[in-house]
Amino acid sequence: MAITHPSFGTLDDNRIIFFDTTLRDGEQSPGFSMNIEEKLRMAEALTDLGVDVIEAGFAIASPGDFESVQEIAKRFAKDGPVIASLSRAAAADILRSAEALKPAARKRIHIVLATSDLHMRVKLRMSREEVLEAVTGSVTLGRQHSDDVEWSAEDGSRSDPDFLCRCVEAAIKAGATTINIPDTVGYSMPEDMERIFTDLRSRVPGADTVIFSAHNHNDLGMAVANTIAAIRGGARQIESTINGIGERAGNASLEEVAMALRTRRDVLPFANTIQTPKILRTSKLLATITGFDVQPNKAIVGRNAFAHESGIHQDGVLKDASTYEIMTPESVGWSNSSLVLGKHSGRAAFRDKLRSLGYGEIGDNQLNDAFRRFKDLADRKKVVYDEDVAALVDDEVVRGHD
Ligand code: KIV
Ligand code: ZN
Repeated sequence: MAITHPSFGTLDDNRIIFFDTTLRDGEQSPGFSMNIEEKLRMAEALTDLGVDVIEAGFAIASPGDFESVQEIAKRFAKDGPVIASLSRAAAADILRSAEALKPAARKRIHIVLATSDLHMRVKLRMSREEVLEAVTGSVTLGRQHSDDVEWSAEDGSRSDPDFLCRCVEAAIKAGATTINIPDTVGYSMPEDMERIFTDLRSRVPGADTVIFSAHNHNDLGMAVANTIAAIRGGARQIESTINGIGERAGNASLEEVAMALRTRRDVLPFANTIQTPKILRTSKLLATITGFDVQPNKAIVGRNAFAHESGIHQDGVLKDASTYEIMTPESVGWSNSSLVLGKHSGRAAFRDKLRSLGYGEIGDNQLNDAFRRFKDLADRKKVVYDEDVAALVDDEVVRGHD
């Protein structure tokens, strides 16, 4: 069923909203802080990538955070993505977010309050009734400053389901337009996630008037799987970060969710606005800004994500890349697959490399000799680079002329 949302108008039921929190939750991971100029560059890149919402920061956290949210709001004063600022369920936080967001053409006040018994007892020292009152009061105040208010149940996935329903109902009644259920500590399994959203949508009055959102952390490496499961349960906004950066083990990685949706359209028939060929450049920009590269085997954006070393795989890829690639490198911004020469590589890849280096005409005997010497070298070196191959063949050609 289509839904009407203050920032997006009528949304079809198959539309997934990408809420990017690289500049807020992502920046909260140790060593990943960014200055205003860097945040502005990232905000531009995220807009270009096609995200729907940019969470620009936590306005009350520091003067720098306030200024970053405000500068990003100014940058998108005429149009662009919805700009969000996080607030706790406290008047000072909400007013600070509202102030920082003022210049934005489209803005969202994001209010968070914990709903698990553990967090309420130990951290908030609030009773259930006090939490319910705070939900109503804070969302009501938020709505006085923005038509678009997101309410998040921190530690929602570990909350008592009946109490969570009551909180969500209170938030909707007070005017929240997006309801986010974070798996704050990355504890859930995909089946839990799907059930949480299915339950809330079937049990809470007014659930069909709001967008449900998933916000998954990666402590058990489940963040992306949980995000997909949440979508199956009815979530239509997903919160993620570039390169999966975020508190502790990080958040669901935007690039992985986007490519799962694109690659598995057969089982995930959803629409979104992410321009996937711009993924790699956005990932690299973030790595340059923060000084943290992604690990080589990181899905989608790691340097090995489209690299093949074994002879069997290289032979397959040379015949038809779809033998070992489920998406094209170009679809996420790489210029091509790479056949990395190493000790597992075969003659087909070696010959292909020679052609690409301009040695297409070398005779079979020279090729065989060069290949044998390449294998010896590959046993000694982890990776054989283009220069090594060129040196081998040049040497072979010289010997051939002797
Ligand atoms: O993980 C979390 O619970 C959060 C909230 C602030 C949404 O980041
Ligand atoms: Zn989080």
